[in-house]
Amino acid sequence: MQLFADTADTKVLADLMDTGLIDGVTTNPTIIAKSGRNMFEVIKEICDLVPGPISAEVVSNDAKNMILEGEKLAKIATNVVVKVPLTVEGLKATKELSAQGLMTNVTLCFSVSQAMLAAKAGATFVSPFIGRLDDHGADGMGLIHDIRHLYDMHEFDTEILAASVRNSKHVADAALAGADCATLPPSVFMELFKHPLTDKGLDAFMKDWASTGQSIL
Ligand code: E4P
Repeated sequence: MQLFADTADTKVLADLMDTGLIDGVTTNPTIIAKSGRNMFEVIKEICDLVPGPISAEVVSNDAKNMILEGEKLAKIATNVVVKVPLTVEGLKATKELSAQGLMTNVTLCFSVSQAMLAAKAGATFVSPFIGRLDDHGADGMGLIHDIRHLYDMHEFDTEILAASVRNSKHVADAALAGADCATLPPSVFMELFKHPLTDKGLDAFMKDWASTGQSIL
């Protein structure tokens, strides 16, 4: 299970990288806008910081310009993944970019049939949005289960990248449902480390250790 950071905040990202547990990064136009930075500069900085896949999203509506944007974004670094929306034009662009040997991430996936089309277009990753489906009264995690089933049954290579993750349960459930990766807001990543019994147990161990008067170092 690969864990990606869903952020363009390079300071936060540097801290997350120190854990040694971050495998890649995803961004979208909203995340870039929130960073207040030039997209090319911030993606380059992220690619220098993180050796894994870094998703950078195209913003055109037609395949021709999506391809041109994707080719330009892919020139930033070899680990750039061109992120493309799940539309007819987006999948035409995905097919062409994949044929060129570029990595692609088909985003805004909300159904099994959409995930099937993304895989047929040769996407490296497909991003089903768990949280937004749940907000919509649908079953986000059920979609991850169903896509896993479909991809295994038809031997599609596209990796399932669970997105729109809102809490640590989403991450655990996505891993158990067979997602290949999940992209997490930094706060959710830090939540993964926590359990009240870990804090309680460590507190008791430290008190008992202090009572021995010993030191290890
Ligand atoms: C990542 O690829 C997605 O763009 C992101 O996870 C969307 O998350 P949100 O629904 O919290 O905006």
